Amino acid sequence: MSKLSPSILNADFTELGSALSLLEENGVEHLHLDIMDGHYVPNLSFGPELVRSLRKISRMEFDAHLMVENPDDMIDAFAEAGCRTITIHPETVRHLHRTLSNIRAKGLLAGVCLNPSTPPSVLEYVWHLVDHVLLMSVNPGFGGQSYIEETDRKILRIQEMIQTLPHRVKIQVDGGVKMQEAQKLKALGVDLIVVGSDIFAAENKEERIRAYQRLLTDSSQPNLS
Ligand code: DX5
Ligand code: ZN
Repeated sequence: MSKLSPSILNADFTELGSALSLLEENGVEHLHLDIMDGHYVPNLSFGPELVRSLRKISRMEFDAHLMVENPDDMIDAFAEAGCRTITIHPETVRHLHRTLSNIRAKGLLAGVCLNPSTPPSVLEYVWHLVDHVLLMSVNPGFGGQSYIEETDRKILRIQEMIQTLPHRVKIQVDGGVKMQEAQKLKALGVDLIVVGSDIFAAENKEERIRAYQRLLTDSSQPNLS
């Protein structure tokens, strides 16, 4: 079943406590944390100290999406801050096999994030070290962009690749997702659907969260995978 993974990148940072409570009160179990360093992407967001503070007030599973140069240097900090998954961009590491092994060695789930132009073939010799594939449906760096339609084809390709694997790999899609895209992604069988601005820019955030939860839990609209 597809699950919602809200991104707080576009949330009001003065109200993060109430934002997380609202998400949990409405059954959200997963939180997407967009970590940006202003180098790998042209934006700066927040770091492990904020994540550590949020960890104290939330039971949700934290997923750190590291859009940073040299993520190897940050694995320990985000592990200690309470993340369950650490997702990195292959373009930001010298040795992808070693980085994924290091994330796994911390007892965390290892994620690889594919930008719109990054081919799935980059995963060919490290699938055994991958727990999540995060497909960017926007170019990384900012919320509020439009969904890149070519992502659909990449989802189908990744599904073909993971079908042959002996272990479970979850597919996440991230960027430009609104209700219409979420409906399509659910039908495609995507496991985790990241939504940022469509929730946190909404007039009535609680109603929008509930609308996504209704959509994703509605068994009358089965997924096709
Ligand atoms: C962009 C981030 C996405 C983004 C999602 O680099 O990885 O998580 O914040 O936000 P929306 O849903 O607004 O595109
Ligand atoms: Zn993200």
